Amino acid sequence: MNGSKENRSLLLAIETSCDESAVAILQDGKTLLASEIASQIEMHRHYGGVVPEAASRQHLQAITPLLDYALSKANIQLSELDAIAATLGPGLASSLMVGAAVAKGLAIGLNRPFYGVNHIEGHLLSPFFGEATIQPAIGLVVSGGHTLLVEIESQGHYRRLGGTLDDAAGEAFDKVAKLLGLPYPGGPEVDRLAQQGDPTRFTFPRGMLEKDNFDFSFSGLKTAVRYKIAKILPSDAPNSLENLPLADLCASFQQAVVDVLITKTIQAAKKTGHSTIAVSGGVSLNSQLRAQFASACEAEGFKLCLAPANLCTDNAAMIAAAASFAHSAGNATDLLIDIDPNLRLNFLRS
Ligand code: KG4
Ligand code: ZN
Repeated sequence: MNGSKENRSLLLAIETSCDESAVAILQDGKTLLASEIASQIEMHRHYGGVVPEAASRQHLQAITPLLDYALSKANIQLSELDAIAATLGPGLASSLMVGAAVAKGLAIGLNRPFYGVNHIEGHLLSPFFGEATIQPAIGLVVSGGHTLLVEIESQGHYRRLGGTLDDAAGEAFDKVAKLLGLPYPGGPEVDRLAQQGDPTRFTFPRGMLEKDNFDFSFSGLKTAVRYKIAKILPSDAPNSLENLPLADLCASFQQAVVDVLITKTIQAAKKTGHSTIAVSGGVSLNSQLRAQFASACEAEGFKLCLAPANLCTDNAAMIAAAASFAHSAGNATDLLIDIDPNLRLNFLRS
């Protein structure tokens, strides 16, 4: 039985792959009735990073109240839902388990189809949120866990062009912030401090720019920042971080990341002949990345689709949107398919 009285399609999605518990309710694949997030950042800040066991326990506590809150905000009953989705991976196993178990339980209890979503596909498609079809594009996903450059042919049809060989872009922001004594997560802090800084004061390496491929590497950049800090601080007080020119260090580091991401993405668009560039993931919130991508795309004649700010960091709306494509196509996921912490995107062979 279809639960909706008004001939509308209601899809509920749950995302618990890392340190945010999130629930969204999406109507007809395009209208968000609720997109709620219970962040664990405060707890993980205490440890300077995500502690998997603590994350999982926190998801368990948060998920039922969050579900109730989302339903009341959307003003619907559980029985009105037409489909249930959850992130199956990649992510932390014990965290993914919570969202997937709740979603599968709901799907079984309500006798509705279940859709298992790849978290990276959720990010990748988020710049096209609400659109009925996905246009061909070059997709750049830059988050805490992933840096991936992909050719998008259509929904579900992707070709991998390159990715990071070591740290993800967000991880580099978080690690450099830690070196500078800034709180977790470091990306927003670096972005904020960089606004007052001089991006040309320090010259940091632009990893892999000279290479004729679409891979990235950020660990050399992180090491260069570490050496620069050691050089600046007096040898009798190597931990006196308050003596650092924080704003200039942040601006110079950030500019190196932004240069590499924009240059490689535009090279990829030129090489493949795509005219649209779609940028997503937590790092796509970065103010300089957004501004400089916009001017570079304008100068080079590319159409830029940036993920909306509320869909950049982890959220369930992007999971609902990806699931709604599968729902429209009738491609439900077998309930026996388990979570996979290392789940990869399905790439085309050539
Ligand atoms: O997409 P996301 O929420 O999680 C993953 O799927 O990994 O991304 C989180 C990452 C963190 O590394 C955080 O530092 C980074 O996104 N981030 C930023 C900014 N806001 C969040 N990085 C640079 N500038 C920002 N404004
Ligand atoms: Zn993410």
